[in-house]
Amino acid sequence: MSSKPSGSLHKFLRMVLFCVFILGCFVTISLMYNISSTTCLNHLPESSDSTKSIQHVCNETNDKKMTTVLIWLWPFGEKYDPNVCSSNFNIQGCFVTGDRNFYNKSDGVVIHHRDIAGDLSNLPKSQRPLFQKWIWMNFESPSNSDRLPGINNLFNLTLTYRRDSDIHVSYGSIVAADTVEDFVPPSKNKLVCWIVSNWSPNHARSKYYNELRNHVKIQTYGRAFNNYISDKDYTPTMSSCKFYLSFENSIHKDYITEKLYNPLYVGTVPVVLGTTRENYENFIPRDAFIHVDDFESPKELADYLLLLDKNQEMYLGYFKWRRHLKVKRVDFWAGHTCKVCDYLRRNNEYKVINNLNKWYWD
Ligand SMILES: *[C@@H]1O[C@H](CO)[C@@H](O)[C@H](O)[C@H]1NC(C)=O
Ligand SMILES: *[C@@H]1O[C@H](CO)[C@@H](O)[C@H](O)[C@H]1NC(C)=O
Ligand SMILES: *[C@@H]1O[C@H](CO)[C@@H](O)[C@H](O)[C@H]1NC(C)=O
Repeated sequence: MSSKPSGSLHKFLRMVLFCVFILGCFVTISLMYNISSTTCLNHLPESSDSTKSIQHVCNETNDKKMTTVLIWLWPFGEKYDPNVCSSNFNIQGCFVTGDRNFYNKSDGVVIHHRDIAGDLSNLPKSQRPLFQKWIWMNFESPSNSDRLPGINNLFNLTLTYRRDSDIHVSYGSIVAADTVEDFVPPSKNKLVCWIVSNWSPNHARSKYYNELRNHVKIQTYGRAFNNYISDKDYTPTMSSCKFYLSFENSIHKDYITEKLYNPLYVGTVPVVLGTTRENYENFIPRDAFIHVDDFESPKELADYLLLLDKNQEMYLGYFKWRRHLKVKRVDFWAGHTCKVCDYLRRNNEYKVINNLNKWYWD
């Protein structure tokens, strides 16, 4: 008996089976690809200018579900490229757009308080889908924002500088340094500087300044002093001063702005006037700044600044923290809207902000 014919039949059958297997894999993979990209693309309205960019996001995400965030009102009317969550912030699965055609498909709708402009008819008018959350965004302090009774029971989430917001974003932050080494501040040829555009005699900071300037020379710049400073000169000017007056225009818990983070970043010691020292220390190291409340009077503060001017070692004490830490400034606004998307992807709670007015303004 020869085993030859049955041997080649065996081989043939094995080959057929193998081919069927490969074909099967191919079909399965292409089906899977189709299904997942359809789920993603389901978020598209019928026709839209943004189709290209959402396709791009669909392609780069492996997620079945895409989260869509709609910027209903561009903050202060300024447009920006919002679809950078993956590329700039490593947040995947987000599609952020200003295209209102996406309203019915949006998981979150971001509304910037200032741009409601006191007129509720600027808010979306068509019925809100059940899954959709409205996000109230405001980075101005209560003193600089108009109260608007109609915004109670309307929003689902808050996005502000306050640490008790649902989504919190500071004007800057302190992070670990890349390498551990002593920080050498840039060279200085001025003692105290202040750049300010909005002057109001009623601001606490104006009164403090008017007293302080009697005791120490202060170099002033900006619209308030008819001494305009260009963007190009801003950083070199600030960094050439030993101290910078980081005086907030209004005093509220957690309201600590770029007026603090800019001098910290460039290597100038901030002298802060704003919320309490304790509150500042929630955000930055205690030896990174001087607080006006550390002194009985503007004169005492002036004396201390003059003392530091003569004592380089004491002055350098204000940079010790930079051996291990550095300042990260926050870019408005793309990171904020990506953070909204990230929040929505991680949290699925039902929530209504009943008394936004009381929370923010009282
Ligand atoms: C997304 O992938 C599809 C299918 O591979 C391709 O045709 C399309 O050009 C891609 N779009 C973008 C914007 O990358
Ligand atoms: C959203 O859906 C509603 C019906 O629920 C419809 O009246 C409205 O035109 C839709 N809006 C958009 C922008 O597609
Ligand atoms: C969002 O808030 C609105 C208005 O109060 C409410 O009707 C809706 O159920 C809330 N939605 C979610 C998903 O929390």
